[in-house]
This record gives sequence, structure tokens and C-alpha cells, in this order.
Amino acid sequence: MSVRVERDADVERLARSLSEHEVRDFDLVIVLGSGLGSFAERLTAARRIPYAELDGMPASRVVGHAGELVIGELGRRRVLVQRGRVHLYEGWSAREVTRAVRAFCRAGAKAVVLTNAAGGLRREWPAGTLMRIRDHLALQGRAAVGAHERGATRVWDEELGRALELGARDAGVALESGVYAALPGPSYETPAEIRWLTDCGADAVGMSTALEAVAARAAGARVCGISLVTNQAAGIAPHALSHDEVVAAGAAASERFGAVLERAVPRLREVLAARA
Ligand code: HPA
Repeated sequence: MSVRVERDADVERLARSLSEHEVRDFDLVIVLGSGLGSFAERLTAARRIPYAELDGMPASRVVGHAGELVIGELGRRRVLVQRGRVHLYEGWSAREVTRAVRAFCRAGAKAVVLTNAAGGLRREWPAGTLMRIRDHLALQGRAAVGAHERGATRVWDEELGRALELGARDAGVALESGVYAALPGPSYETPAEIRWLTDCGADAVGMSTALEAVAARAAGARVCGISLVTNQAAGIAPHALSHDEVVAAGAAASERFGAVLERAVPRLREVLAARA
């Protein structure tokens, strides 16, 4: 098997391009998953930078991933929002999938909030359920970073996770907690795979996030995240799944999702300030 090792120079190139576009002075990054991009509209004093303008930024071709950075403020707090990510199943390497998050860490990010659309494995969770990611199962068969680099274990930060829960409470929105299983995709799972994932301890399943989480952690940032359960997983839902359903469920839940994240930002900031 040949392993394509991307030079860190590519991360440096993107970090330099961020600086040239004056994407700086942020310590909190929010990565928005499929169908969740409308959250970026909550930012004030916002400036948008299409990925195409950034040297070295991989850009997705998946519907629902707009492909722009938005730097702005939430409650007078500066945040960087990544609206759209690239996936392994589009043919990108693990290095490329994690390049943006590594460049953000190089540019000063102290914490990364990763969000995604996911299938739900719990029968009691209807579509639209929000789940704080407590931990993950990395089942994509790819490594984000070199062997034994810092951050391989204890990726998901308990303190930041609690801040998300406080944000949800402030917003009056229910937030479950669970384990996210990351699979390569792009096909959805079979009912047998979902039964197996349930036995493995997974609560939700998707095709992103785990590599970025490990890479951000290895780069020294703290990591937390939320899955939006856009559908019940195969064999739990009575009907076949489609990408359109995932995008539509994201749109339907975007108000609650946005309210939780917006309220969580000051809580996350408190946690970061306590350690600064
Ligand atoms: N499986 C995998 N990824 C997903 C799903 C699913 O059911 N829903 C949204 N992303």
C-alpha cells in the first residue's frame, strides 16, 4: 500500500493565505456539517471568504456544503466558521481532510467545535435530535496524524462538552450525548452494519469529523462537537435514506441547532479563559 504523505508545507501555505486574507485573531473555530451552513448567518460584522480565494484550501462538491469561511462575531466574540468540509469519499486524503483544521490551529485556534449530520442508532431518538459528541469510533481506516502523536486518545474535551450542554440549557433545547462512529462512506450503512455499530457502543454514525478531531487535538487545540441526527439509521428507520432527506432535516433543525451553538459560545469562552 502506498501512503501519500502531504507535506506540512501545504498547511503552512494555507495558514499564510489565511493571514493574507486577515483571517486572524480568533481562538474559536466552528466547523459546520451537511445542511448546517445557515448558522453562519448569525454572525455579525461578518466577512466571507470563498474557499477558491484561499491558497491550499480543499473545496467540496457535495450539495449542502457551500465552501466558504466566515469570520465575524457572535455576541461581540470573534469566531471563525468553516462552512463546508471535504470528505474522504470524495477522494481527498486524510491529510487534505484535516488540512483546514490544522491551518486554523497554526493560525491560533484554541478550540474547535465540530458539527455534522449523522444517522441515529437509538430508537428513542427521532430525526432532529441533537447529540453532543462524547467520544468517537474512528472506523475510516485512515490516520489523521503520524504514529503516537499527541492527541490519539482523550480527544473529546469534557469541559467544553459541558459548555455545550450549558448552551443547550440556556437555549431551552434538549441535547443528548453519545458516541459518533465515523465510516468512510459514501454509501449509507446496511441494517447489519448498524446492528454491529450498536454493539460497538455507537449512538450515531456519519462520514466525517473523527479525523479532524484527532488532527486538531494533535495540533494542541481542544475539541468538542455536536451531531444533528438527520435520520434514523438503516434498519431503524422503516424507509430507505437519501442525501436529500439529510439536507432537509438539517434545514428543519437549523433554528434549534443555531440557538444551542450561539448560546454555547460564551460558555466555551469561559472555559478557555479559565485556562488562559
Ligand atoms: N449514515 C451515515 N452518514 C449519515 C447518515 C447515516 O444514516 N445520515 C447523515 N449522515
